[in-house]
Amino acid sequence: MTRPQVAVVLLLLAVGCQKPVKPGDPLPQLSKAERDRFNRGKVVFDSVFTPETGLGPLFNATGCGECHEDPAGGRGDEIEVHATAFHSPFCDPLAQEGGPVIQQHTTPALKQALGIDQEPFPPSATARAMRTSPVIFGRGLLDLVPDSVLLAYADPGDRNHDGVRGRPNRSLDGRIGRFGRKAFVPTLREFNAGAFAAEMSVTNPEQPTEEDIGGKPIPAGVDPAADPEITQEALDLTDDFVRFLAPPTPLKLGKDGRSGRDLFSQIGCATCHIPTLRTGDSPVPALRYRTFAAYTDLLLHDMGADLADICLGLATPADFRTEPLLDLRGAEHFLHDGRATTLEQAIALHGGEGAGARDRFKALPPADRAALVAFLKSL
Ligand code: HEC
Ligand code: HEC
Repeated sequence: MTRPQVAVVLLLLAVGCQKPVKPGDPLPQLSKAERDRFNRGKVVFDSVFTPETGLGPLFNATGCGECHEDPAGGRGDEIEVHATAFHSPFCDPLAQEGGPVIQQHTTPALKQALGIDQEPFPPSATARAMRTSPVIFGRGLLDLVPDSVLLAYADPGDRNHDGVRGRPNRSLDGRIGRFGRKAFVPTLREFNAGAFAAEMSVTNPEQPTEEDIGGKPIPAGVDPAADPEITQEALDLTDDFVRFLAPPTPLKLGKDGRSGRDLFSQIGCATCHIPTLRTGDSPVPALRYRTFAAYTDLLLHDMGADLADICLGLATPADFRTEPLLDLRGAEHFLHDGRATTLEQAIALHGGEGAGARDRFKALPPADRAALVAFLKSL
């Protein structure tokens, strides 16, 4: 090849590497074998379970893809009901009464046996929470950010006096939590295995027993499938599918969007929504030591009384994990229960530790507010 030809080839390669990642795409650097597991895991994620294949007897939906949909792994319109009991400073997840996820449907066999068409609301609950089905892209990267990084962002005593504290949640055995709106679950793996059980009552090698029904055993004969209802392989493939879902490439920013991105940092949004994080070691090269757009610190922040609902682990009713900001371009509802239908509303509803940034946003001239929203819509 001549020198100009080499230059053209290099340019084409560079352009090829920058092909935008669309919502629902796998991480671009996966090996062929990993991409194959992504595709096979997607089949399990998108499959529809029936009572014969393990669904129920209580359930919220028939498959992961019913809630994380359009494309698989994206947001969904299903809204769940959660409940716990807060006896300050302790939080009771009501495991003995079938909480904290209250399944909204029953199989025909359970309905016939007990005459109920949803899980009874736990009598000891002190609060109820609504939870929209979030986008789950990029969670494999979030899973690999070292705990030490999150601890370095935490400032429980507000030593720098910026009004923003931030502290990690912890699982019952003391590990740092990061998944779920209250950051209670430490690893993606546990969340995925738990979702089979909590959402579809599909038992698996890591969650091998069915939840009882409001504290009472499941009546005989209503759950025909033998436990575990899916194999280790099916669980592993689903886990890889979720793990390998890439964060979509942000849309190209115009001049407005670029100034919006600067304002996002200047008015303090980036104090909690940390723009980039870096993963630690991993056997998967596509996930190893990667810097990625996260817009979260994975920490809990007190967001004020108006947003407060249930406690979970160390999270008080008002504490929420900073939501990672991604794939906002197509979103039609925001915040944990979807109460905001525009980005402006979502910002206006930031209270507590978020009140300072909210007020600085409110004080911006209209053109600057529009620029910041244009930036968010590029994510
Ligand atoms: C009925 C709807 C529904 C189904 C079915 C469902 N999910 Fe979810 N998913 C949710 C909701 C709601 C949340 C948020 C939970 C919370 O905030 O505590 C969530 C959260 C998640 C998260 C954590 C995201 C984060 O940012 O921390 C992952 C991962 C996930 N789901 C994976 C799955 C997998 C895998 C399946 C199938 C085994 C599944 N989900 C089935 C509704 C659903
Ligand atoms: C004190 C920490 C903190 C600060 C500062 C903060 N946020 Fe948030 N943000 C959060 C938390 C926590 C949530 C989740 C709240 C919920 O779900 O109810 C959130 C949620 C959001 C959401 C909704 C995302 C979704 O998918 O539902 C948007 C949009 C958002 N923040 C933008 C901003 C902007 C813009 C600023 C600056 C004006 C800002 N935030 C400042 C903590 C913060």
